[in-house]
Amino acid sequence: MKIISVVGARPNFMKVAPLHKAFQKLKDFNIDVKVEHLICHTGQHYDEKMSKIFFEELEMPKPDYYLGVGSGSHAEQTARIMIEFEKVLIKEKPELIIVVGDVNSTIACSLTAVKMGIRVAHVEAGLRSFDRQMPEEINRILTDSISDFLFVTEKSGVENLKKEGIDASKIFFVGNVMIDSLINYLPKIHKSKIHSELNVQKGNYCLITLHRPSNVDNKNKLKELIEFIAEVSENKYVIFPVHPRTKNNLERFNLLKLLNHNIKITEPLGYIDFISLVKDSSFVLTDSGGIQEETTYLGIPCLTLRNTTERPVTVEIGTNYLVGDKISFARKYINEILTGNPKKGRIPELWDGKAAERIVKILIEKFN
Ligand code: UD1
Repeated sequence: MKIISVVGARPNFMKVAPLHKAFQKLKDFNIDVKVEHLICHTGQHYDEKMSKIFFEELEMPKPDYYLGVGSGSHAEQTARIMIEFEKVLIKEKPELIIVVGDVNSTIACSLTAVKMGIRVAHVEAGLRSFDRQMPEEINRILTDSISDFLFVTEKSGVENLKKEGIDASKIFFVGNVMIDSLINYLPKIHKSKIHSELNVQKGNYCLITLHRPSNVDNKNKLKELIEFIAEVSENKYVIFPVHPRTKNNLERFNLLKLLNHNIKITEPLGYIDFISLVKDSSFVLTDSGGIQEETTYLGIPCLTLRNTTERPVTVEIGTNYLVGDKISFARKYINEILTGNPKKGRIPELWDGKAAERIVKILIEKFN
């Protein structure tokens, strides 16, 4: 049986790593089927710090295919991925492809495969922000509607898919592969030296990430956020690993001058150092999708700078606060955290480090 898993952008790598590992140890699960598991990297993210370092840290083999599509408009990027991925599928003729998350590589590769009669498994299916302004929401809806196996991280995803008319036999609530990676690498995460490199200690800093076009592509919006970050830095050190999109815009809008010496700007960080910083932070301020889940698992307060979340379990039972575009809400929540009254969370159901194992078992069973 031949399977190709697709990775493209930074948040994909920690989701495919545990799947690859699970395919390598089928014997441990008493499965006597030979699976050839290939990895195709579309090249949507290509900087060393956005891609290569993750392969090394997550102990993934060099991708079997690297499509090198790079950046571009949504149409250009999606189209280039489709053209190049079709060539891989013609050559390899896999029985199944696995796509993860909600990036342009996810929809581009699932659409290419399904039209060639190749089955598609979508890992992290069913999440909905109900905000169709987000390119990721379009990617999620389209990918789910054409996938044969939909692996879901939280119960809301099952409900969303059923409401969209997806047959219940295709939907599997399996837990969260990204949390598999986190649990697997905790021993390494504990050994990271990043705190001393940045001269911070547990609890005396907060961590900020910003990259959503809605936050960083508009000058006034980005200026408002940077001014708020400067205000936050009066109470805590701020560590701010800057995404390439955000870096370009900070330079273009001449906003770097608003940063002060309590704000530690870094290049994008590797997985181990980043999670190590999350784990010991006072709180995290972010517009990311996945970080909402990682903070919930680690019990760290997370202020999400978005109006909606496709991961409601992180707000309902986790440590996530949805701040929206109201800085006043962020101030209020930070005050609660700093006065020793943060939101207490629990770990969501099945976020136990075994999601990849469940997925692999289901796939093998369905194919035999
Ligand atoms: C993409 C995903 C987003 C995900 C994010 C994680 C889509 C639609 N968006 O957004 O869901 O949360 O990845 O980071 O798929 N760039 C570099 N080097 C790189 C990659 C990008 O310099 O390795 C710069 C380029 O100027 C590029 C810009 O960043 O134009 C944006 O990259 P792109 O892949 O289009 O989207 P992201 O904003 O990273």
